[in-house]
Amino acid sequence: MKHDHQAPLGVFDSGLGGLTVVRELRKVLGHEDIVYLGDTARVPYGTRSASTVVRYAMGCANHLVAHGVKAIIVACNTVSAVALERLRVDLDLPVLGVIEPGARAAASATRVFKVGVLATAGTTSSGAYVRAIAACSTRVETIGQAAPLLVPLAEEGWTTGEVPRLAARRYLEPLACAGVDVIILGCTHYPLLFDVIQEEARAMIGNHVEIIDSAHAVASEVAGFLESRDLLREDSALGTTRLLVTDLPKSFEQTASRFLGSPVDSAEQIDL
Ligand code: DGL
Repeated sequence: MKHDHQAPLGVFDSGLGGLTVVRELRKVLGHEDIVYLGDTARVPYGTRSASTVVRYAMGCANHLVAHGVKAIIVACNTVSAVALERLRVDLDLPVLGVIEPGARAAASATRVFKVGVLATAGTTSSGAYVRAIAACSTRVETIGQAAPLLVPLAEEGWTTGEVPRLAARRYLEPLACAGVDVIILGCTHYPLLFDVIQEEARAMIGNHVEIIDSAHAVASEVAGFLESRDLLREDSALGTTRLLVTDLPKSFEQTASRFLGSPVDSAEQIDL
């Protein structure tokens, strides 16, 4: 099907964490309209089975298709890890995930051919990062580490101080012991803890350690993809961001603006 380049981009995540991807998309694709869907009623996905995540992901994607989007960006690492192929097969529009861009950035950054990945339990056990990095370079060894506690810490805004520091240290320990020099933040929520993770990683591994924020890598790949397919919006006006959620959390505005990095005034509640 030929998609209209003036149509919005659809972005979805299990919750509000995917707004970290929207924040990066906004920096490089300021003129695009974005419809963001956060499945806040069913977050987290990271602890659920692959078949449940596939079912939830299909519901989110079909809802965005009904909004006439020209492409879908799966901001959730867990969905990208277990449901991307199914979405690509079932949907008649481009579907981009967050694993491959982060994997490519990490594979080219490592000097010792060892990459660590902090992610949810679902993403880690899927082996998706291991496969994606191996597809870039068979020389690179990938060490995955599930870091489940970092999700609620980011949601709560508990991103500085002793508690996130201790949690980060605990999760980084196996990666430091394995001798990695690059660490991928393989979860939508972790960029909010970037500073604390970087400080701890530097203390344990050394100042040369590189932390890859996959949201950043995703945004430049999406921009390149839209350009190559002639799908960029031709308009000098700034694009809009429409927020759809399946539940309205009490502290929605504060949480969403923390992830987005700018104020959020409203969201529409939808049923999937
Ligand atoms: N969005 C999820 C991810 O990036 C994190 C939150 C969840 O577990 O749903 O993996």
